[in-house]
Amino acid sequence: MSKRILITGGAGFIGSNFVHHWCENHEGRVVVLDILGYAGNEANVSDLASQDRFRLVKGDICDAPLVAKLLEAEKIDTVVHFAAESHVDRSILGPAAFVQTNVVGTFTLLEAFRNRWNSEGQPSDYRFLHVSTDEVYGSLEADDPPFTETTPYAPNSPYSASKAGSDHLARAYFHTYGMPTLITNCSNNYGPYQFPEKLIPLMCLNILLGKSLPVYGDGQNVRDWLHVSDHCAAIDVVLHQANPGDVYNIGGNNQVKNLDIVHSLCDLMSELASDLPKSPRDLITFVTDRPGHDRRYAMDISNIQKELGWSPAYNFEKGLRQTVEWYLNNREWWQALLSEEYKGYYDNLYGNRP
Ligand code: NAD
Ligand code: TYD
Repeated sequence: MSKRILITGGAGFIGSNFVHHWCENHEGRVVVLDILGYAGNEANVSDLASQDRFRLVKGDICDAPLVAKLLEAEKIDTVVHFAAESHVDRSILGPAAFVQTNVVGTFTLLEAFRNRWNSEGQPSDYRFLHVSTDEVYGSLEADDPPFTETTPYAPNSPYSASKAGSDHLARAYFHTYGMPTLITNCSNNYGPYQFPEKLIPLMCLNILLGKSLPVYGDGQNVRDWLHVSDHCAAIDVVLHQANPGDVYNIGGNNQVKNLDIVHSLCDLMSELASDLPKSPRDLITFVTDRPGHDRRYAMDISNIQKELGWSPAYNFEKGLRQTVEWYLNNREWWQALLSEEYKGYYDNLYGNRP
């Protein structure tokens, strides 16, 4: 039988990619709950609005009566929970929103789902999949082995600390109440529809706008990059195959230094864009490091590979080229995001950063 799924944060970057992945691959009701804040964009899912099976609800995951009513009215049996404050730099500027949405919001959803699951007699096919990050594990030195599912949590930013808190709640609801939660911890995603506060889209836009390319610290920090389509496929596999209570690490087996990514983006843009105001490599500017900047993330993905048969399909070189092409071909999409709010955020973060 097809699932009746609630996708929180489904108008954001990964959420909207997942909504499309889901609608292309599965039957059944699809409800998106998204506050449509700065990173939530109705345009990301507007192509689905005409489908009877699809509904977008503008609302806050912290609004307990709204969430309870929605689960009941839509007879939801599956939650995939993406909604979050997701950017480390914003969490440094203002951590309160991160505690509220990521911790209180996740708690609110878990409680509402527990009530619904109980009221239906604890059906064995209900699932609550909590989407989390590799950042909960802290930072690796150059020679450390990658994070496994049993690496102790050591979050270093308000963002990762709030995600760790929400992971612990999801875990506790399985252990205490037997509620069928699943947790996925994924590495850095890239691809279409990513808000231009994150490294890759920010650099793409700045190259096109002739603005400086702010590289934090020495640019040698390492992230394990995964194409967003691969992340969506992994979540689908975990949702369908994992056992309640399971935790899986997801990553790209693809560790790259920030400066190498910026160089690649400069070269791709020089090759693909005909109207660049300035030579991209000349725009690279080393700026004051992010406070508490994690040096390296890397994921050991052998469990999901062996147990569930998922592996990343995208090659980074191809994926990065496709992503650059997407930002070049979808200028109206990102031009609409260059709001006063975005300019204020940008000036606040980068304005006084020597
Ligand atoms: P995003 O910021 O692009 O999207 C988050 C979405 O959540 C937005 O649409 C936003 O409007 C919505 N939202 C925020 N607060 C809300 C609230 N109170 N109520 C309802 N909706 C709310 O983030 P993303 O990059 O798509 O990340 C999605 C999830 O994946 C997050 O939980 C994040 O921690 C996790 N994750 C992200 C990455 C990454 O590289 N981007 C990697 C691993 C895990
Ligand atoms: P980001 O995309 O913010 O993801 P995260 O901090 O969650 O890993 O940043 C990726 C890396 O790029 C991180 O090491 C910080 C660095 N970075 C810069 O050097 N300059 C920037 O302007 C941004 C946004 C990030």
